[in-house]
Amino acid sequence: MATIKPTLHHVTMKTSRLDDMIAWYALVLGAQVQFRDATACWMTNDAANHRIAFLAVPGLGDDAEKVRHNGMHHCAFEYASFADLMESFDRLRQAGVEPAFCLDHGLTISLYYQDPEGNYVELQSDNFSDWKASSEWMRTSADFATNPIGTFFDPAKVYAAFKSGQDFKTLQKSVRAGAYLPNPIPGIGLPMP
Ligand SMILES: [Fe+2]
Repeated sequence: MATIKPTLHHVTMKTSRLDDMIAWYALVLGAQVQFRDATACWMTNDAANHRIAFLAVPGLGDDAEKVRHNGMHHCAFEYASFADLMESFDRLRQAGVEPAFCLDHGLTISLYYQDPEGNYVELQSDNFSDWKASSEWMRTSADFATNPIGTFFDPAKVYAAFKSGQDFKTLQKSVRAGAYLPNPIPGIGLPMP
């Protein structure tokens, strides 16, 4: 029988900082609370009934070895354009929320933020503005095969270059080539080799 494919719908996290998490996801994603009580909350930032949820029962605690333990590394949200991603970077920076690290994956430009419990949330825009084209590039390009994790960049410098009028295609090629490397190169939430 053919597989009927479901669509990815939401992410649910365990937390012991329910109020902080709600405030952070509201700020970063523009998510609104659909329902909450003392030990749970469901939020959405689009037409779905919920996209992010939290379970905050007593007895939960932090994982001091999170970086070395298996589990989810990040979830990701996509903007319609690089301009929207850059505008959001600036809005969040002004609110005191800065990315932990930034990568040009070739198929997307991606800013990775850490929520109040250290979970990464990737904010991205598609470098091709077209899922079909970026998907094809991912499967077939030598560039991606050579550098699938991506090239680090300093978001403030890339923001400034974009605001000064550099066109996206030229800028993206420079970012991918390493013209905007941060100093130092940040960790990405994985054990050092
Ligand atoms: Fe990702």
